[in-house]
Amino acid sequence: MKLKLVLSAATAICLGVTAAIAAGEPQVVRQDEMKKVGGAMGALGGIAKGEKPYDAEAVKAALTTLAEVGKTFPDHFPAGSETGMDSEAAPAIWQNMDDFKAKSAKLASIAEAQLAALPADQAGVGAAMQALGATCGDCHQTYRLKK
Ligand code: HEC
Repeated sequence: MKLKLVLSAATAICLGVTAAIAAGEPQVVRQDEMKKVGGAMGALGGIAKGEKPYDAEAVKAALTTLAEVGKTFPDHFPAGSETGMDSEAAPAIWQNMDDFKAKSAKLASIAEAQLAALPADQAGVGAAMQALGATCGDCHQTYRLKK
């Protein structure tokens, strides 16, 4: 009887832990971060194409998102998160973690440089996007699976 109680308590704890892990799965967190990156680039693109008026605050917000994600993105690739949750992460990430981190840091440093000297008009945002956009392809080519 006592053993049964202990066992069911242990099961309850395990279930709780599983639920907590599922909510913060690294595969989900990193995909959410990249969705934010896509959204930030979309916001800049709207301004660069003239679909939206130049808005310094919107530019600042987008660049801040890119800088923040660039800094934290590689934290969400722990061992054991190579696959699952529809991840498009390539196995090469875990074979070249330093290079992967460098590519992410590059996105962050370009975004930070642009925050320090904020693009001041539509043309400036266009030029900023080109520099930022090069980092997306540079990383995706090697480290994102095409599905
Ligand atoms: C350091 C590498 C790296 C850089 C830089 C990078 N990405 Fe990614 N991106 C990835 C990886 C890896 C994935 C797949 C993540 C997964 O599915 O686990 C991804 C996935 C995505 C996705 C799909 C998200 C989803 O819905 O699952 C979008 C959109 C995206 N990236 C946009 C961008 C844009 C735009 C840029 C440039 C501003 C960029 N990325 C820069 C590595 C990078």
